Amino acid sequence: MSTARGEGRYGEAAFRPEQAGEGERIDFGALAYDDITMARLRALGVGPGWRCLDVGAGTGTVSRRLLEEAGVESVLAVDRDVRFLGARSRPGLDLLEADITAPDFSPGRFRLVHARFVLMHLPEHERLIRRLAELVVPGGVLVLSDAVDLTSDRTPDSPYTAAMRAMWQGLRATIGTDVSWVPSYPSLLRGAGLLPVAAEIHVPPLLPGSPLSRFWADTWERSRAAMVATGLVDDGAVDTAVRYLASDECAALSAGMLTAWGRQPGDTPR
Ligand SMILES: C[S@@+](CC[C@H](N)C(=O)[O-])C[C@H]1O[C@@H](n2cnc3c(N)ncnc32)[C@H](O)[C@@H]1O
Repeated sequence: MSTARGEGRYGEAAFRPEQAGEGERIDFGALAYDDITMARLRALGVGPGWRCLDVGAGTGTVSRRLLEEAGVESVLAVDRDVRFLGARSRPGLDLLEADITAPDFSPGRFRLVHARFVLMHLPEHERLIRRLAELVVPGGVLVLSDAVDLTSDRTPDSPYTAAMRAMWQGLRATIGTDVSWVPSYPSLLRGAGLLPVAAEIHVPPLLPGSPLSRFWADTWERSRAAMVATGLVDDGAVDTAVRYLASDECAALSAGMLTAWGRQPGDTPR
């Protein structure tokens, strides 16, 4: 059954940055995925001399690691709310508070444009992918990561499965989150004129107490009203799922992170 797409917005109808613990929730996701992201960026050659754009930068863990570990020249970190970025600024890191869906969003051109766990929450992903591709200089790369839902009709029922189904459906109905198109990233990047393109999926283990388990538990807490409104779970079922995730009983596969990348044809200007 498909659910009507909600008209609410990320950061307003859910995941409000002013709500206590929201920065910590983003950091748990970052702790689970930053090493994978950095390994891919380094393999793509990102390093000294690169000017980078980090779109929807959150708490800025990738932005700072680009500067500190990859040694890039600069990072412009863009977010609709830069409070977490401002609290941890450093030389080479520039901040821009902006809505990337705005028609006049035009922050310049970069050798790396990166967005992780952002486009899945926004309408018009095809237009945004084309727009982000336009921000990449010839020879540069666009790198996009988002979640892939690995549950199916055959996934065994468990507190975790029930909570995940309710979360995806509830977020879609409130802020329009949609991960169903994420596996189409390679063809969407190709359609945006990038060549060659490629993609990979990583699924960290759901170990009790791990950053990933805590990320999902926090995400359910913040999505609780939307989850319960689906009718698929009640408050008790969300509580049970949070306890299940933290226990040795947990036998589940996390949603994965799909990373897709493509090169803007041409030679990088010297
Ligand atoms: C799930 S967090 C991901 C943060 C970071 N990219 C990471 O992977 O750790 C999504 C981020 O996108 C930002 N965001 C959502 N919609 C946005 C928009 N329309 N324009 C700019 N930033 C947006 C949010 O404020 C939030 O910081």
